[in-house]
Amino acid sequence: MKRARTPAAALFRRVFLINGLIFTLGTLILALSPATVSARIKLTEIPVLMVGLAIILTANGLLLRTSLAPLDRLAASMRRVDPPRRSDRVDDRNSGDLHHLITSFNAMLDRLESERTSASATALAAQENERQRIARELHDEIGQSLTVALLTLKRAVDRAPAAIRAELQDTQETVRASLDEVRSIARRLRPDALDDLGLQSALTALCNEFAQATGIAVVKHVVPQTDRLKPEVELVCYRIAQESLTNVARHADARKVWLDLHVTADRLTLRIADDGKGGVAMEGAGISGMRERALLVNADLTISSPPGEGTEVRLVIPLRSD
Ligand SMILES: Nc1ncnc2c1ncn2[C@@H]1O[C@H](COP(=O)(O)OP(=O)(O)O)[C@@H](O)[C@H]1O
Ligand SMILES: [Mg+2]
Repeated sequence: MKRARTPAAALFRRVFLINGLIFTLGTLILALSPATVSARIKLTEIPVLMVGLAIILTANGLLLRTSLAPLDRLAASMRRVDPPRRSDRVDDRNSGDLHHLITSFNAMLDRLESERTSASATALAAQENERQRIARELHDEIGQSLTVALLTLKRAVDRAPAAIRAELQDTQETVRASLDEVRSIARRLRPDALDDLGLQSALTALCNEFAQATGIAVVKHVVPQTDRLKPEVELVCYRIAQESLTNVARHADARKVWLDLHVTADRLTLRIADDGKGGVAMEGAGISGMRERALLVNADLTISSPPGEGTEVRLVIPLRSD
């Protein structure tokens, strides 16, 4: 059977066929059965007509309903589409003449998702480059000037009269603290460890810094790895771990955090869990940023956060997908 060209034509043909079938059936029943209808209908013939009509309507309804059922699947799928999550495609088996409509819809989802992924990849790459540039400038320019100031102050302290020595030493401490702060901001913007030593070291540094800054205990389980992962995979993991830890510090009221990284031949799993108050209801810019990054590497990001039972962020990245 040749398929109709457009969904409207397909639908028209199907309804037309079904109704044709029903009318033919009705006509045949009238012609071949002993039932007759007079020109002016008699009272006794009314039940016969009613039964006939009921049969026709039921048959028509049943056939139309099964034919149009794929439309419900399609509408349900349209409602599920929820960027930036990856949505599933509508199953186009057993969809009869609506096959075209469903494959067009699936193809549209494919196009939208790939367009979205490439747009957010561009935006995130621009953001990363900008961070790298600012980090480098902070480190090289302000960092250098502060270092020079620190050395000059040190010489001044050594030669200063006792009356102003204490003040100079205070200034020296302030400059030293600013230098540390500039270095730590630069590191947060773009961790050198990630480029130079890989994800494991960068995550270790991140956890240590987090534990020091917040006083929350971190239980880290990162299996050491010999092979480096792809740079984009490492960056996605690092940024998601960073945002998750920031969220724990800001929102969770946690006493303990677990960070696990597990890499096998075909997948990487990163888990950040806390024992805080849980109950993430509204996803803000931080979490939607994590979802965008996860999409870039085709990963699954799930956040489970039952109220009172802590929050778990789990990222599963398929490796060797290409
Ligand atoms: N670990 C967590 N524990 C408890 N609540 C959290 C946690 N992480 C996120 N939340 C909640 O989810 C919301 C959204 O988080 P996010 O998208 O990162 O936005 P932001 O951190 O900018 O508020 C937060 O405002 C907070 O209420
Ligand atoms: Mg946040």
